[in-house]
Amino acid sequence: MKPIPTLETERLTLRAFRLDDAAAVQRLAGDRLIADTTLSIPHPYEDGMAQEWIAQQQPDFDQCKGVTFAVTRKADGALVGAIGLVGMAAGHKAELGYWIGRPFWNQGFCTEASEAVLRYAFTDLGLMRVHCAHFSRNPASGRVMRKLGMQHEGTRRWHLRKWDQFEDSELYGILKNEWKRGAKSHSMRLIRYQAAYREPMLALHRSAIEGFTLGMSQQEDEADLVAVEDVYLRSRGEFLLGFVSERLVAMGGFKRLSDGVAELRRMRIARDLQGQGYGTLMLRELEWRAFQSGIRTLCLDTARRRPLTLEFYRKHGYQETGRSFYGAVETVQFSKTLDERGCERKCLGPTQSV
Ligand SMILES: CC(C)(COP(=O)(O)OP(=O)(O)OC[C@H]1O[C@@H](n2cnc3c(N)ncnc32)[C@H](O)[C@@H]1OP(=O)(O)O)[C@@H](O)C(=O)NCCC(=O)NCCS
Repeated sequence: MKPIPTLETERLTLRAFRLDDAAAVQRLAGDRLIADTTLSIPHPYEDGMAQEWIAQQQPDFDQCKGVTFAVTRKADGALVGAIGLVGMAAGHKAELGYWIGRPFWNQGFCTEASEAVLRYAFTDLGLMRVHCAHFSRNPASGRVMRKLGMQHEGTRRWHLRKWDQFEDSELYGILKNEWKRGAKSHSMRLIRYQAAYREPMLALHRSAIEGFTLGMSQQEDEADLVAVEDVYLRSRGEFLLGFVSERLVAMGGFKRLSDGVAELRRMRIARDLQGQGYGTLMLRELEWRAFQSGIRTLCLDTARRRPLTLEFYRKHGYQETGRSFYGAVETVQFSKTLDERGCERKCLGPTQSV
């Protein structure tokens, strides 16, 4: 018998469940909201169920069926939730599933724990693919999957049945090579623009345009950036900032031009972090948010003399539509039609076995 390993993250320890976790499992997983968006967590969660579930985990691990971890907070040892891999096919694939207790939601715990489990899946277990799914009505889980760099692989309509309702299911997956390429960038935290970050945001913008003769004053160039709320946010657009630890490393937004059309603007990634997946993560999130808000065409202008940037947009499905100028800088214009497939959406989830 090989014991279930322990994985460490910045704030969490992922370890094997113990029978003395049962009371906390029953309290947290017994919340109807946890059962509501998972497939086989029972409700009501009766006495003895947690013990039975925990007792099955080591045998499942021994038989290579899967692995389940208790997610615990390092600061005080509190049980935060559960995460694991089920339906494991050795050397091939497994399904990721998780739940986090309601008092601990929206603090990044699920994402942090999932990152550790993906690393374990691809490095220690040698898997090639990790997939997962969530009810379409569970956007928080979808957000977690997108933050992990997973790709939306489809929607299965009425594929699941919960509380006697038919439910649509969103499918997600990530391959080992995609994870490897983007692993670092997945630690980036994206937030909507806040005025408190104006100065670092302007500094990031200025460092990105260093070396260009713009043919306009700094004030003219930065007019939209000193009025992000008006130009982007209040006009049904979006503007996001990306952080790694406390450092602002990415920015970008879209400005609505008409109901279905928006312009992607001010995509900037810190110079030392370019080419590592941060731009892809930012672009995917902006495209998804644009699609969700009814935008079907995204266009943009980018400097012609930057071949890597041009290649980046081509790779993401943008078509060249023309040439123009931004002040004195010659630009290439791109456009992309958004569709549901192209705009990665949500994830899905676990069963009682996770
Ligand atoms: C889904 C779940 C695991 C997420 O756990 P978590 O620790 O809160 O996740 P994180 O904090 O890492 O990330 C949640 C993200 O969803 C976002 N989010 C939360 N509610 C949302 C909503 N209604 N719509 C869109 N996004 C939402 C959060 O803002 C956060 O994104 P951000 O970091 O960009 O701000 C947790 O809600 C849960 O256990 N739900 C019940 C069980 C379940 O659904 N399990 C998954 C089944 S597929």
